[in-house]
Amino acid sequence: MNFENILVAVANGIGQITINRPSKLNALNVATIQELHDALESLETNDDVLVIIITGEGEKAFVAGADISEFANFTIEEGAQLAAQGQELLFDFVENLKKPTIAAVNGFALGGGLELAMACHFRIASDNAKMGLPEVSLGVIPGYGGTQRLPQLIGKGRAMEMIMTAGMISAEDAFRAGLVNHVVPQAELLDFTKGIATRIMRNSPFAIGRAIKCVNANFKDGTNGYETEIRNFGKCFGTEDFKEGTTAFLEKRKAEFKGK
Ligand code: COA
Repeated sequence: MNFENILVAVANGIGQITINRPSKLNALNVATIQELHDALESLETNDDVLVIIITGEGEKAFVAGADISEFANFTIEEGAQLAAQGQELLFDFVENLKKPTIAAVNGFALGGGLELAMACHFRIASDNAKMGLPEVSLGVIPGYGGTQRLPQLIGKGRAMEMIMTAGMISAEDAFRAGLVNHVVPQAELLDFTKGIATRIMRNSPFAIGRAIKCVNANFKDGTNGYETEIRNFGKCFGTEDFKEGTTAFLEKRKAEFKGK
């Protein structure tokens, strides 16, 4: 697949997407959102890929937000449409991927950038990263799920303060708040993230996909997460991965999972 705004590479079980508009601090324009959707869809169905990593090109930014130049003159309807399309194509799409998707936050993650990182299953930040939802400073609110996912991750009070002040927090503060799982020197960010991806890959892809679904069920209106867990726990018993995992344990050998 040929992309203009992103780079996609597959190696050693990892599909890496790099948002590649460094001169605009990797701001998410509509074309980039569509390309991210297409790339994620193809990595999700690529048997060579077990874990997906999303990062930004350059040393300065993961993503400095939605592209402000694109929506500055939008009407009420166009604004609502922008948020709806973006959420469907990218942010909800990422959250519901069956393959573990990690944000390697290598610099500014602002507005839509932080929203993208938050839609990923978890986040690892470089020590120079700065995170925030500055939308109210532009007279708008987060529209790609930020008002929902930030309180889920760091609690309502802290999210309210970040959103209302439009301020940025450091990687260390993000770590203390639970927004990112690890903070590492920038030069080590990708290797560190790939190390975690490699540990994930030793486990059953089928079970991991179902675990993602169950964790997400806790945050879905009208869905009983416990029931979702019971149903999916049961489904695991019918898989080759379960037979392989339990047999390998009893035979004292390493399991070779197929994701089936
Ligand atoms: N949308 C569109 N363009 C953006 C952008 C965004 N969200 N963020 C940065 N850019 C562009 C700048 O316009 C500039 O382009 P130019 O060189 O053609 O003028 C380029 O990226 C570099 O950004 P610049 O502002 O010069 O870098 P800086 O180091 O001085 O400041 C930031 C960095 C992140 C503090 C600043 O770019 C910023 O505040 N960006 C907007 C953040 C935001 O509000 N995001 C939420 C959007 S809803």
